[in-house]
Amino acid sequence: MNGSLDGRTVVLGVSGSIASYKAADIASRLVQTGARVEVALTRAAAEFITPLTFRALTGRSPYVDIFRDGAEGEAHVELARRAELLLVAPASASTLARLAHGLADDALSLTALATAAPVLVAPAMDSQMWEHAATQANRALLAERGVQFLGPVSGRLASGRTGAGRMLEPAAIVDLVRARLGREHGDLAGRVIVVSAGGTREAIDPVRFVGNHSSGKMGYAIAEAARDRGASVVLISSAALAVPGGVRLVAVESARDMLAAVQAECAQADALIMAAAVADYRPAEVAARKIKRAGFDARSVDLVQNPDIVATVQGDFVKVAFAAETDDLLANARKKLVAKGAHLMVANDVTATDAGFGVDTNRVTILDTDGGVDELPLLSKYEVGQRLLDRVVSLLGARG
Ligand code: PMT
Repeated sequence: MNGSLDGRTVVLGVSGSIASYKAADIASRLVQTGARVEVALTRAAAEFITPLTFRALTGRSPYVDIFRDGAEGEAHVELARRAELLLVAPASASTLARLAHGLADDALSLTALATAAPVLVAPAMDSQMWEHAATQANRALLAERGVQFLGPVSGRLASGRTGAGRMLEPAAIVDLVRARLGREHGDLAGRVIVVSAGGTREAIDPVRFVGNHSSGKMGYAIAEAARDRGASVVLISSAALAVPGGVRLVAVESARDMLAAVQAECAQADALIMAAAVADYRPAEVAARKIKRAGFDARSVDLVQNPDIVATVQGDFVKVAFAAETDDLLANARKKLVAKGAHLMVANDVTATDAGFGVDTNRVTILDTDGGVDELPLLSKYEVGQRLLDRVVSLLGARG
């Protein structure tokens, strides 16, 4: 449970497709983000997956028949009014056609017609059907009206063939729902946040490098939190983690690559958050070929200083740096806050086993330029990201 959609009402429309079973995973993931999930099934969907499944997952009976017994006359329109986002997943060819032509004879199509909320659709069908002119015409018509398409992607289809028409995976769909609701309601909507993550790699030869233990998790969690708050997020990373949906990745290797990328991306940034573990030094020489063991004299690897990225990059944006310390945490972090010209310094003790490198939690203290010291308890890195972004939002607000 990460609370990113706390209090939000998402209507999940499910149409009839072999991918309908994945709607259960989508419903479960949405519930885990704190959203209130209401489900509208088409009759065809109810043939693939029972209403009971969704009742168990969401705690609410899905809407199937508009005129189901016992529902007050306005129930179906009330559902449309309550919706802060309508997600149709899977969206069959038939349902896309009904939405495109404004039909309203089942709970799903009626909700789509009666809601003012954003409508996102995740198509799922055989490639022949997806590529058919009629479906493509419906897609174009819906896109023109502002319906957001999530996929489809190419891959193995129910028919056993491979081609376009496979539904985007549930995790990616929910990521994009979180991003859209962030853009609609988040306090970083319209902002550009640049985040660096991972440990840089300073080449010794084509095979070896000087590196560190940073996994990238801290930076990726901040990027995910910023996306959930509506920011356009650029993640400059040397790590190999799965990029959060809706976040733009700029892959880098060395400190100098990272410097170039940070300088380029910060031209439009509202904030830069340097969570990456950037190597302070790199080998003076990079061998063109793999150094043979016989010739490898470790004493001969001379190191030269790398540029200090966060101190170097200038511009009108909030600058947040991290301090990875093994001792004198606050004193060392405060020195870096001043030396690097940052607005906030996030100090973490990287000798702790439940914080710092590689783990999913972190224990940080946030220092500011007014002498403020905000010691946070052990939190998930996502929650650390949220708390850190609360401070960034305040600084941005103060700057107008
Ligand atoms: O990635 P994880 O496995 O989740 O681990 C998270 C983390 C421990 C890497 C993260 O929380 C963290 O502490 N990141 C900063 C690590 C680091 O390089 O700290 P530092 O004290 O050496 O550098 C201070 C600041 O200057 C950092 O913001 C760093 O990005 C920046 N820096 C450092 C060197 C350099 N040449 N250029 C820089 O911009």
